Amino acid sequence: MTPEILISEERIRQRVAELAAQISADYAGVDDLLLIGILKGAFIFLADLSRAMTVPRSVDFLALSSYGKRGAFQSGLRLVMDLRESVEGKHVLVVEDIVDSGHTLDYILRLLGARRPASLKTCSLVQKPARTMVDVSIDYLGFEIPDVWVVGYGLDFKDQFRTLPYIGSIPPE
Ligand code: PRP
Repeated sequence: MTPEILISEERIRQRVAELAAQISADYAGVDDLLLIGILKGAFIFLADLSRAMTVPRSVDFLALSSYGKRGAFQSGLRLVMDLRESVEGKHVLVVEDIVDSGHTLDYILRLLGARRPASLKTCSLVQKPARTMVDVSIDYLGFEIPDVWVVGYGLDFKDQFRTLPYIGSIPPE
C-alpha cells in the first residue's frame, strides 16, 4: 500500500523552517530552552525542528504508550520512559507529531506542569481539529489536517511508514 500524499516533503520542510524561525525569535535571550520530544512519533519532527533553530537548546524525550479505545473515551496512557533531566526552572517546549483527541498532550502538560518549569509551551506538526476534544493549547502548529489516518514523517500505522519523508493518508482499516 502506498499512502496518498497529503503534505509533501517540500511543504513540511518550509513549514518546519518557519516554525523554527518563529520559536527562535520568541525564545531569543533564553539560554536554557529544553525541547521535549514525545516518542515515538515526534522523533523526526524534533530532529529537523531542533536543527533549524538558532537559539541555545537541548533535547530530552518522554515515551508514552496508549491502550484502550481512543476517541470518545479518554485513552489510558502510560509513561514508559521518563526524562533524563529535571525541568524545574527551565523553559520547556513539548514537541509532538500530532494532536488528535488531545489527551496525550493534556497528560503531558499536567505531568510536566507539576514539575515547576519556568515556562511550558507546546508545538505540534499537525492537529486534527475535528477530533480534538480536550482543550489543549498548541502554541506552535504546523498544519491542521482533516480527519483521515495519516502516516509518515514519524507517524505510523502499526509501527510502519514512520520514515516516509512526507505525510500521507491511508484508507481506514
Ligand atoms: C500518537 C501521537 C501523539 C498521540 C496523539 O501517539 O504521537 O502522541 O498519538 O493522540 P491524542 O491526541 O488522541 O492523544 P501514539 O500513541 O500513536 O504512539 P507513538 O507516538 O509511539 O506512535
